[in-house]
Amino acid sequence: MFSLGRFRRIIGLDIGTCFIKAVEARKAGGKLEITNFGVFPTPQGVISNGRVMDPPKVANAVKEALNAGGIKGREVCAAVSGGEVIVRHVFFPRMPREELAQAVKWEAGAYVPYPVEEASIDFDVIGAAHDSPDKIEVMIVAAPKGLVASHVETMELAGVRPLFLDIQPITICRVFCDEKSKDAQFFVDIGGGTTDLVYSEQGVLRFTRIVNIGGNTFTEAIARATKLDFARAEELKRKVSLLGTDGAQGDGDIHQDMETGEALGEVAQRLAVEVRRSIDYCNAQARVRNGGHSLIESVVLTGGGSSLNGLREYLEASLGLEVTVGDPLVNVTFSGNSHLAEDLAGYGTSLAVAVGLAYRGVDG
Ligand SMILES: Nc1ncnc2c1ncn2[C@@H]1O[C@H](COP(=O)(O)OP(=O)(O)OP(=O)(O)O)[C@@H](O)[C@H]1O
Ligand SMILES: [Mg+2]
Repeated sequence: MFSLGRFRRIIGLDIGTCFIKAVEARKAGGKLEITNFGVFPTPQGVISNGRVMDPPKVANAVKEALNAGGIKGREVCAAVSGGEVIVRHVFFPRMPREELAQAVKWEAGAYVPYPVEEASIDFDVIGAAHDSPDKIEVMIVAAPKGLVASHVETMELAGVRPLFLDIQPITICRVFCDEKSKDAQFFVDIGGGTTDLVYSEQGVLRFTRIVNIGGNTFTEAIARATKLDFARAEELKRKVSLLGTDGAQGDGDIHQDMETGEALGEVAQRLAVEVRRSIDYCNAQARVRNGGHSLIESVVLTGGGSSLNGLREYLEASLGLEVTVGDPLVNVTFSGNSHLAEDLAGYGTSLAVAVGLAYRGVDG
């Protein structure tokens, strides 16, 4: 009779390649209220292309993140990601849900690059097809069972209970996509290992692609160019700017500055080409769908990798579109200790996935 569930606290748990972020939240006054927050570095090399290679090690890091945030709850929402996670929009004739489930399974076989028996497959009906009321548009999501199992095992070992397992692009939509907006929205979520490209129209996810370039690709390029180890290259990356106009570049070594600038520029250019390619593809699809009423005019960056100095400006110039950095905390409130808001703000846009997962949890 009374929905006590809406006061329940849920943890949005983002098990990233570089950092584990845990955001504990509840619904209060129609808004997401964050009650606790913890973060802990993911041990290096234990997550590869979205798959947890060493569940016990990652489970320990998850426990550390929960402890760091003083999080006592056990119910989590988590997400899978990586190049093996496939999202496709497909049109089907209208049919009962059980038949659709079968049809989706057949159809998925054409898309997944691994045997369909080895795939976890899910789907969501988006709505009527734009050109025919007899057809429906369905979003099919597939991920290798082994990848999903590696996350479930990690959470079990960490002593938490997964309520939902999403895919990362959907979590980004949940935070930023505006259902009332007729406009196209394009997101570039730059993590440590990969970058998710996400396109939505009227709040509906329509396209996603994963690019094998992330914040770590910049660090690795610096390490190669300067012969520094990864940790020193990471330190240097956080000091320099891609635009190279900052007088206080790097460690004051002009030769090293030049090598660093070139290395960063080369990766940024490759990333910009991939983003441009997907924007062109989405615009072409929109022209077919609606005559191009909603072409992409701006891009929102999320993920820790978007903190690289000068990257926003670089992409803006390169794409010829407005580029902003998305703030996942803009619509949330805070309770708990007085430092919570400040601590969270320090992690800024890298919390987008964890916050999106918390939304999923409190909205049920
Ligand atoms: N100030 C900064 N300047 C440059 N890069 C930064 C900065 N802060 C964080 N990063 C980069 O952000 C990346 C980590 O971002 P994030 O926490 O979003 O990744 P992740 O979620 O762990 O990875 P993934 O989503 O790929 O699994 C790292 O590559 C890190 O170097
Ligand atoms: Mg991430």
